[in-house]
Formats: sequence, C-alpha cells, structure tokens
Amino acid sequence: MLLSKLRLERFRNYKSASLTFGEGLNFLVGNNAQGKTNLLEAIFYLCHLSSPRTNNDNDLILFDSNETRIFGEIQTQYGSHELEVTIPTKGKKTAEVDGMIQNKHADFQGYLICVYFSPDDLKLVKGGPSERRRFMDLEISQVNPYYRHALSQYNKVLLQRNNLLKEGRIDSNLLDVFSEQLVETGTLIIEKRNSMLKRLNLLARLLQRRLTDLKESLLLEYVPSFVIDGDIKTAFANALKESLSEEKYRGYTLVGPHRDDFSMLIDDLDVRAYGSQGQQRTVVLALKLAELEFLKGEAGEYPILLLDDVFSEIDDIRRRKLFEIVRLNKVQTFISTANPKDLEDIVGEQRKVFEIKKGCVGVKQDVTFG
Ligand SMILES: Nc1ncnc2c1ncn2[C@@H]1O[C@H](COP(=O)(O)OP(=O)(O)O)[C@@H](O)[C@H]1O
Ligand SMILES: [Mg+2]
Repeated sequence: MLLSKLRLERFRNYKSASLTFGEGLNFLVGNNAQGKTNLLEAIFYLCHLSSPRTNNDNDLILFDSNETRIFGEIQTQYGSHELEVTIPTKGKKTAEVDGMIQNKHADFQGYLICVYFSPDDLKLVKGGPSERRRFMDLEISQVNPYYRHALSQYNKVLLQRNNLLKEGRIDSNLLDVFSEQLVETGTLIIEKRNSMLKRLNLLARLLQRRLTDLKESLLLEYVPSFVIDGDIKTAFANALKESLSEEKYRGYTLVGPHRDDFSMLIDDLDVRAYGSQGQQRTVVLALKLAELEFLKGEAGEYPILLLDDVFSEIDDIRRRKLFEIVRLNKVQTFISTANPKDLEDIVGEQRKVFEIKKGCVGVKQDVTFG
C-alpha cells in the first residue's frame, strides 16, 4: 500500500502544501513546532477519519479559516484511488473516494491503512485500560467494517442504558431491551477482540524475541470484565443480571467490553507493574510491529507506517531491526525527527527527505542508495 501524494489546504499550520512521497523511507525533518506531527496527523486522518491527538476536528483547521481539506492519492492492490476529506468549522465533514461522497464514513475508512507510532504510545503500557481498548478498537476497525458498525451500535445502546439506569423509576421492559442489544453487539466485540489478540500475541511474541535476541518471551491475553465460562453471550447476559442491583445504585453499566482490558506479561511478570523502562518501550515497539503484521494478514498487503518522533528514542540495535523489517517487507514509512543526524547512519535505503519549516515543505534530497 502506498500514499503517493498528499495535499493539504488550511490544515493546522499549513496554508497549502503538496508532497510527493517515495516508496521507501520518507523523512520529515525540522525543529520543534514546525509541523511534522501535523503532517503525520493529516495522513492518519485519511486512514481513520479521526485525529490521533484531538477529538475536536476544528483544531485541525488553520486558525481563522473556515474549512480544511486533506487530499491523498493512494495505490493499493486493488488499484489507485483519490481520497479527499473536507472539514468545515460549521456543519459536517465530507469524505470522498474518487470524487464520490461517502455518506457512510465507514465506507471511506479502510482504503488507506496505517500503523501510527508516537512517544504517546507508551500509554499502551503505562496508561489505563481505555488506552488498550482504543488500540484494539482502532486496529480491528481498520480492517473490519462489521466491527466498526458493532462498536458504534454498542456505544449508542450503552449510553441509552446508562441514562436509564440513572433514572429513579426504571422501566424494566426497556432495560431488558437495552440489555439484550448490549449483549448482542457486545458479544461480537469481545469475540473479535479475543481473536485479534490471539493473533497479535503470536506475532508480538515472535517480535519481542527478535528485538531482545531471544531473551524475552511476551504474552498478551484478553482480560474481560466478567468471567467467561464457555459461551460469551450467556456469560455476558448472566453477568449483567448479577450486577443489576449495583448498576442501579451506581447509575451505569458495570460489565461489558467497555470495561475490558488486555494484559502483557514477560516471563510471567506483568510488564505494566514490573517491567523496566527499556522493557516497556520494547513491548510497545513489538506491539506496533505486530500490528503491522496483523493488518497485513487481514488486508492482504502491508499498511503504511508512521513514526512520529520515536526514531531517536529507539536504541541502535532495535532501530536496525526495525529497518530490517521495514525494508524486507517494502513498507512505505514516514519518519519525523528533529535530529538530522538520525539520517546519517541509514545507508542502502531508498529515502526521501522533506524539510519542514513553519508549515512549509521543501524537498531536500530525493535519492536512492545502494
Ligand atoms: N489549527 C492550527 N492553525 C494554525 N497553527 C496550528 C494549528 N494547530 C497547531 N498549530 C501550530 O502547529 C505547530 C505545531 O506543529 P507540530 O506538527 O505539532 O510540530 P512538530 O514539528 O514539533 O511535530 C505549533 O506552532 C502550533 O501553534
Ligand atoms: Mg511533533
């Protein structure tokens, strides 16, 4: 999968920018606060129709402008496509594929697939369960439209059910309807997350071993918010019944995929509690690379890889291993860095270097080595 062109209009600090990317490594080099992350954010937006760092789309619009546009040309195994997103300050955003407006945003997502890795991803290990749920949801959503649908249904019903639980006199028939719908969609979510995590576990295990010269063995496991003994659906329905009195007391739903998590163990010890800083970083890298393989397995081709400022955080050995994987699989990669020195030790790679300065882009080098 390739993103060959990107055009931005009034996006963050870019008034207008047009970039043609290479098939290998694309470096975005510039000092702090010049627009490197903004650029990667725009690419991410073309994949997910959401930003990795804000829930408010208006943040993406250049100050004092009334709309922003992101335009991308992509090549996938199924052919070339033009993706375009327009976000106005007022009203709804539109998403187009080859000039056709996609009324269902879910029909737009999935054309361009990416793995995004930033220093913030350490939250995957250090943060609370919601970080890990978001990780699972984003990954499965990229390749599974049914999952995207189930997730939005689930969240809707959850909200309705929680609102009902807050009421003084609860209509028990209505509660039953909501509970049934919650179990229906929730079961699908748990099943998908479970199978994704099983697959991710095999991949991450392999990668962790590779990244640590076979020293460490990583284990990922789904941790549901209720005991699953056999059938998920029955277990979920029973768990809801059992927690009902407490739920009425608290005014919200206590069990279900919105409370689930997954655990990460190295040699039987919880990485979150006992892992060293170095181990935690390696686990995040292993998870991200496993994600790359997982998405490849699901989509039939490698996604693009976005590395925001993580380059200088990874030590030499792991960096070399990362590049081995990227080069071997011909993964188109976008790397932002404030340190041009990072580029010096990369030889034998196809690379393109962009200089980012105050929302302007200059092509510095367009070369193929070796
Ligand atoms: N909506 C916006 N309009 C104009 N400028 C913005 C907007 N949002 C962020 N910026 C500017 O973008 C810059 C940060 O860009 P960023 O890509 O995060 O920098 P970096 O190169 O360090 O990754 C800041 O100077 C910030 O003021
Ligand atoms: Mg940045």
